[in-house]
Amino acid sequence: MQTYIKKISSQMMMMMIVLIIVATCLTTWTTIHSVKMAPPASRKLTRKPEAGPYAGYNKIIANEYKKYVLSKKFSDNNHNKRNQRLLSAISASSPEQVHISYGIPAISSMVVSWAAGTPPTAAPASSVHYSENIDDIKNGKGSTSNVNCETPNSYKYLCARSGLPFCKTEEYQSPYFHHCTISNLKTNTKYFYQVGPYPTGSTPPSTPFSFRTARAVGDDGNGVLTVSVIGDMGQTPYSEETRDAVKEAMSKDDSLQFGFILGDMSYADGDNNRWDTWGRMMESMLANLPTMYMVGNHEIEDDKTTKMSFLPYRNRFRMPSTLKEVDGPYAYFPDLPHHYYNLDLTYDGGSSYYSFSVGLAHFIVLNTYNTHLSGKGSPQYNFLKTDLESIDRSKTPWVFVFMHGPFYQSNEVHQDEHATLLLQSWAEPLFNQYHVDAVFAGHVHAYQRTHPIPANAGPVYVTVGDGGNREKLYDKFDTETWSAYHNGDHYGYGNIRVYSKDKAGWYWRGNPDPNLPDVEDSVLFTPHEQRIKDETKRKQDQKNVEGIIAFTLFFTCTFCAVFVITYRYCKNYVYGDGNMAKTYNSTALDDSFNTDLDSTEMLAEHGRYKSPDFRPINVEDGSKNNKNPYDDVDQLTSNDI
Ligand SMILES: [Fe+2]
Repeated sequence: MQTYIKKISSQMMMMMIVLIIVATCLTTWTTIHSVKMAPPASRKLTRKPEAGPYAGYNKIIANEYKKYVLSKKFSDNNHNKRNQRLLSAISASSPEQVHISYGIPAISSMVVSWAAGTPPTAAPASSVHYSENIDDIKNGKGSTSNVNCETPNSYKYLCARSGLPFCKTEEYQSPYFHHCTISNLKTNTKYFYQVGPYPTGSTPPSTPFSFRTARAVGDDGNGVLTVSVIGDMGQTPYSEETRDAVKEAMSKDDSLQFGFILGDMSYADGDNNRWDTWGRMMESMLANLPTMYMVGNHEIEDDKTTKMSFLPYRNRFRMPSTLKEVDGPYAYFPDLPHHYYNLDLTYDGGSSYYSFSVGLAHFIVLNTYNTHLSGKGSPQYNFLKTDLESIDRSKTPWVFVFMHGPFYQSNEVHQDEHATLLLQSWAEPLFNQYHVDAVFAGHVHAYQRTHPIPANAGPVYVTVGDGGNREKLYDKFDTETWSAYHNGDHYGYGNIRVYSKDKAGWYWRGNPDPNLPDVEDSVLFTPHEQRIKDETKRKQDQKNVEGIIAFTLFFTCTFCAVFVITYRYCKNYVYGDGNMAKTYNSTALDDSFNTDLDSTEMLAEHGRYKSPDFRPINVEDGSKNNKNPYDDVDQLTSNDI
């Protein structure tokens, strides 16, 4: 029994040692993996420190800004008054709502768009004069060569959803939209231009519009390139603040070359007259800053008559794409797990999604609401994959993606929306595979920036849906480890700045406020090559650690097994384990040793020892058989010895 207790105790001890080693290894492994998920220290918030007279300024500013917002006494009720003011300010017969966007290629062409004339009258002719010299335009001497104009188009729209805030029961008839492309422009050159013709009796603007063409692809010799990004603009006093902030930046900063509006532009919401008021409100900015557009949910705008979607967007804007436009009637997906934005929509080609390169960066725009055919093999998937594969990172090392629905945002609103999740399901793996640097989206009326997702390797996701729309700001966020910064109490916009092949960053600022810093939040992106190196090294380090752990486990288990076996056998030989002895000579030995005897006696007792016989025994003399052989020693003579 004692032997068994000893045996069990030694085995338990060995098992406990092994368990402790295994637990230590597993804890180390888990720790390594959990550390990997944490954001790096260098990616922490870079906002200005709260010090000096504005200590704790965020809260103060938030309160003051709210008071300021209330002082405007702005509400949805005065939208119509506002629209009437804009409607009466400009005659629809003269060119209006002028805006410019990059053509194909972006670096040497410009699309000039405007509205003029209204059916049933004939569309006015389209003309664009341009020159590097402002006086040429003022004197009517600008060039008209290399200008190609589409036949002006017009559309009708009847609100299909009575629940929309401005849904009208009468059909809207749009003005004619003119789209002219100026080609073969010099790169990175300032031009002045004027559209026309103006009807008799009306006066063109005294100051011609102007733009600077994009810098050549791969050009890193012209200093920083700045790109403004605005989301969910709307047409409110806050929208005007954002517009004016961009205009001010344009007047002070030559590096600001173009911009993006991330969808949800006019918030027409059932009344397409509001598109015209928005176009007029934005003209002073959009006619002088090449701006790229995309659809948001407020651009879906189902038409009751034709059952088609995106009609206002498709007629008013021209984005750089050679893909043929395909549309289809709208519907709803039934029985989806996510019921928000469960729209079955078709909008491929045309201005739906596109890409272009300027300077050291490649820019890609996607359509969140092109849901009918989505996923691998769909037209938008093929476009994105082909585009990402074809990027020459030696010329354009920076890749930025723009869309409306954000993949990563922790606001309490706009979570789990079908259209966004559908796009994310196939687009995000491509972003990671091709090392996109940053992804910009709107939709959520607030600002938020993430750490790279996946940590240290993937893109930074920015939500900047705070342009100024009428639906107010959203200020309730959940805490997420991947979130670097959020702000839900200010409207504003941000700038991408590309400094060089190795340096590019993002800067967000709130709308004008005496106490708000020029840059409230910023981050420098890690170049993709560095992220690839870091990721490769991290994977190798992880492999090494896992290899060491596996070897340690194997070695420990083997050692313990050998030790236990050796220990048991050695114990038998050293301490005489009866059971083990049995296994060697079970027929000759048993465990009934008399421990009072010495080893010779003990073996002799068991018939294993034969005593030496030093003297011959006279078998014939039976009387001596029982005599001690040493009894006669005294009788021996020296001769005997
Ligand atoms: Fe939206």
